[in-house]
Amino acid sequence: MSGDGIERRLKLAEEITREAGRLARAFFDNRATLQVEQKGVQDFVSRADKETEALIVSRLGLECPQDGILGEEGGRYDSKGHGDGGHAVWVIDPIDGTANFLRGVPFWGISLAFVHEGRLELGLVYDPMRDELFSGRRGYGAHLNGQRLRVSGVENPKRACIGLGYGHHKPRQGHLDAIEGLLEQGCDYRRLGSAALGLAYVAAGRLEGFFERHLNSWDVLGGLLLVAEAGGEMSDFLKNDGLHKGNPVLATTPGLYGFTAKAVGFE
Ligand code: IPD
Ligand code: CA
Ligand code: CA
Repeated sequence: MSGDGIERRLKLAEEITREAGRLARAFFDNRATLQVEQKGVQDFVSRADKETEALIVSRLGLECPQDGILGEEGGRYDSKGHGDGGHAVWVIDPIDGTANFLRGVPFWGISLAFVHEGRLELGLVYDPMRDELFSGRRGYGAHLNGQRLRVSGVENPKRACIGLGYGHHKPRQGHLDAIEGLLEQGCDYRRLGSAALGLAYVAAGRLEGFFERHLNSWDVLGGLLLVAEAGGEMSDFLKNDGLHKGNPVLATTPGLYGFTAKAVGFE
């Protein structure tokens, strides 16, 4: 795919992410009317997630009919193949941080990524509550509402703060050990409830790192591109078919990668 093709998709993705954000925000403002389904322990979904994904899928389907789509709420379409034979897929989390969203906690976002021939090319995370659009293209930097992003320069664990995530279907001990490992070294942590925004915050230098033992590609690919382009270091999420099977995620400022990996018990 040509550079123009990727750039066109970046502009389109920025437009679609903002539009999806306006829809999700309207649901958030009227969330008392939403019927909530429970998918598992502490795992919820409502019309807001489904309709936001449907909007993104229909816009992408119109504008990029040959691209594949992988969405958390069921949007799965195989790439029909490009003229250049490359496989292209969009990866969507319509609302990351649904548990926050449904409680009225204003920390959730929309995540969109574009992967071409197994390489992460575009990443976007939009926070409609603060109108913050984090977006990036491989090789061209990551930006927040147009301003270039750079990871934190902090190297001392006693001044650092690492975002952690936890899914209730996973064994608890590893999560408790990660908290213990960080606190023991005087490093603070946050569990903010949105992996996508957590990674965007690493790219913006608001957190020194983010770790979760297992996540799906729609939770993280948008944010990981941002961290990479902001100068961060990260685990190889796409290895062993991470696109479809998920993987652990560790992403930090370069000076704290080794420290954090050891503290949270990440091999
Ligand atoms: C969840 C959030 C959360 C993380 C969970 C994810 P969802 O995604 O990213 O921070 O800890 O593992 O499942 O369900 O809100 O889209
Ligand atoms: Ca998610
Ligand atoms: Ca979600």
